[in-house]
Amino acid sequence: MSDLFPVDLRSDTVTKPTPGMRKAMADAIVGDDVFGEDPTANRLHERVAEILGKEAALFVPSGTMGNQICIAAQTKPGDEVLLDENAHIFNFEGGAPALLSGVQLRPLPGSRGRLNAAQVTSTVRGGASHLPPTVMVALENTHNRAGGSVYELDELTRIRDAAHAKSLIVHLDGARIWNAAVATGCRESDIAQYADSVSVCFSKGLGAPVGSAVAGSREFVGRAHRYRKLFGGGMRQVGILAAAALYALENHRERLAEDHAKAAQLTKLLLEDGRVTVDQPVQTNILMATLGETTVSAPELARRCARDGVLFFPEGERRLRLVTHLDVPAAAIAPAADIIRKNLTP
Ligand SMILES: Cc1ncc(COP(=O)(O)O)c(C=O)c1O
Repeated sequence: MSDLFPVDLRSDTVTKPTPGMRKAMADAIVGDDVFGEDPTANRLHERVAEILGKEAALFVPSGTMGNQICIAAQTKPGDEVLLDENAHIFNFEGGAPALLSGVQLRPLPGSRGRLNAAQVTSTVRGGASHLPPTVMVALENTHNRAGGSVYELDELTRIRDAAHAKSLIVHLDGARIWNAAVATGCRESDIAQYADSVSVCFSKGLGAPVGSAVAGSREFVGRAHRYRKLFGGGMRQVGILAAAALYALENHRERLAEDHAKAAQLTKLLLEDGRVTVDQPVQTNILMATLGETTVSAPELARRCARDGVLFFPEGERRLRLVTHLDVPAAAIAPAADIIRKNLTP
């Protein structure tokens, strides 16, 4: 097997810190962040707020905790939150909104994970004692399970206006907002401006080993601080991790375009086979493929390909999810596509 293998297309969370990032971590000046005394964490807070165009930001251990802090800090038990039915918050956060915040999630059918303004307006309820008060709409950009899809800024404007007209808070799960900005050709702040609270991740395409952040108004971040502590996310000499996040922000954002190009190339090569379809358009670094009737099942394909050094997750019997990232060399895409195609035949 060549040194391009294994090719790990399971997730962009598998990326490992680069030598430059490790050096930044080793050199980080640290202090006790629970006392607010970690200079590197403080620098990260300022930089994230600046990039997202928000008053303040706060480092948190994970994307899940970031989303849950944003929900807890802006709702009360019995409230209702609107979101797409394939949203990460609804499907992959262990039912946390019910457990940690006592809120009811109301999943709506999105178009490749995207809600629209009319849906928001027509779904909001409240005002009568038998109705749950809808207080928040949670968006996901890019959308993970919908294949890295991206919101157009015009649609975000309309959703924000519709939500605010009904006094809803807009939360953005921006775990991959960096990919969305690159794909849209805009700044992250152009996207984040439509949300009252944002959660972002450093440990996905940006390649940091750990970490996320929440951002919003100074007043919101003050409340988020309390929930971070309450959920067990207060960390001490966290500057070592914040240094990795800062390094990622300065060095790994623009290069996401390379990951998008790799996903586009993989899409093209898979489509050439004729037995695979891919949800289109592939806008960022995630692609969702569907196997035709004449191929092996997705779990069997995943087993065979893993044996040959290409890793990915099946999604049910006929769907696959493939993710490109920092640790997948461009030169590995064609050999990986060959292996997938070779293993399709029953
Ligand atoms: C869109 C989205 N939001 C949130 C998360 C949660 O991040 P974490 O795994 O750091 O909890 C993920 C993780 O993959 C994600 O894809």
